Amino acid sequence: MSTTQSPDLSNFWMPFTANRQFKAAPRLFKSAKGMYYTTVDDRPVLDATAGLWCVNAGHGRAEITQAVAEQLTTMDYAPTFQMGHALAFEAATKVAEFMPAGLDRIFFTNSGSESVDTALKMALAYHRACGEGQRTRFIGRERGYHGVGFGGISVGGILANRKTFSGNLMPHVDHLPHTLNIAEAAFTRGQPTWGAHLADELERLVALHDASTIAAVIVEPLAGSTGVIVPPKGYLERLRELCTKHGILLIFDEVITGFGRLGAPTASEYFGVVPDLITMAKAINNAAIPMGAVAASRAVHDAVVNAGAENAIEFFHGYTYTAHPAAAAAAIATLDIYKRDRLFERAKDLSGVFEDAVHELHGSPYVKDIRNLGLVAGVELESRPGAPGARAYDVFLKCFEAGVLVRYTGDILAFSPPLIVDEQKIDQIFSTVRDALRNVA
Ligand SMILES: Cc1ncc(COP(=O)(O)O)c(C=O)c1O
Repeated sequence: MSTTQSPDLSNFWMPFTANRQFKAAPRLFKSAKGMYYTTVDDRPVLDATAGLWCVNAGHGRAEITQAVAEQLTTMDYAPTFQMGHALAFEAATKVAEFMPAGLDRIFFTNSGSESVDTALKMALAYHRACGEGQRTRFIGRERGYHGVGFGGISVGGILANRKTFSGNLMPHVDHLPHTLNIAEAAFTRGQPTWGAHLADELERLVALHDASTIAAVIVEPLAGSTGVIVPPKGYLERLRELCTKHGILLIFDEVITGFGRLGAPTASEYFGVVPDLITMAKAINNAAIPMGAVAASRAVHDAVVNAGAENAIEFFHGYTYTAHPAAAAAAIATLDIYKRDRLFERAKDLSGVFEDAVHELHGSPYVKDIRNLGLVAGVELESRPGAPGARAYDVFLKCFEAGVLVRYTGDILAFSPPLIVDEQKIDQIFSTVRDALRNVA
């Protein structure tokens, strides 16, 4: 089949997609390089979303392709259960260099969802190893997105992802309130000053359940998929304080914020708040091959690994493709690029221009809030009466037709370009959105 012909669309059941709507008018890419995709009809489309928040070094990086090709030629696969290969260890050492001090024990997975499940299991294993096996409860947060495993949707707080499965979510889960308050903080640049007190809701949950039953709190330091919610100043600090006070582990889900999105290696470093576990995926290897990971503190790792007999498996968990050689090779090449090209510094340097550009949409039709931090922004629109999400979908389509890929969730547009973006492309992204907003009903 030539790339210009449409393939048979019937067999692929598409994820998080309105399948019937899409298949009636498909949008197909055929190649990608740098900041651009090319559609099957040869139109360039500027990627304002880094794929799905994951291609942070831009598309088609030759060094990554070469590393993967060489690895597949040398050794396509090797198990990491009771066996090993050098790249798995090298990749872990490199990833650890990007983590906050002390979070340097790295467990590899294949996705963000698996990283979340892994971190939740580590929390349970840790407490059990410490003689506190009764700590089985997890605290997530409303509007949180932690992937699509049963663990992730249970601690997550997005209604659409939960309701179909609501009868079978994990038990013993509670949720903190989310921190978005448009009435108090509309059009805030960076972190809102309102909302730190919402972390104190953890005290209320401790009073309800008792700290001795709670294993971990899991939050995205900056919530992405729900439509960009920036943490209020002081909020994460307070959450850390309370978790420490009550012996509860704190998990930061950094699947989006890890590897430069905020202009720092992690959100933990950006905010100066160190959790006990960090989940990551996506940009860990520029999305070239599926890969995720969990960074565990020495305390968590050592407690679990030193708990049993020396010749016994300590943690009954892992994946066939944990530290897959090709994924590990891609991670090593990617992390080298981030460092060599100083991409996180670049993101930091551009974040002011990016902020100014997105906030220039203030006053455009239907815009009711704009939120941003680093190279992430969300623009919330008034919903069309009776048709939530329809207006943002129309803006998304208009932008796509005009050559810019944006994301939308509900009626919120989200922007997260590759960190190689420049001022001219930032301008192109937001002027395209401005025109689209003028042309939707
Ligand atoms: C914070 C967060 N956690 C977990 C996930 C799930 O990752 P994956 O789709 O790789 O399973 C995502 C995906 O967007 C995410 O944003």
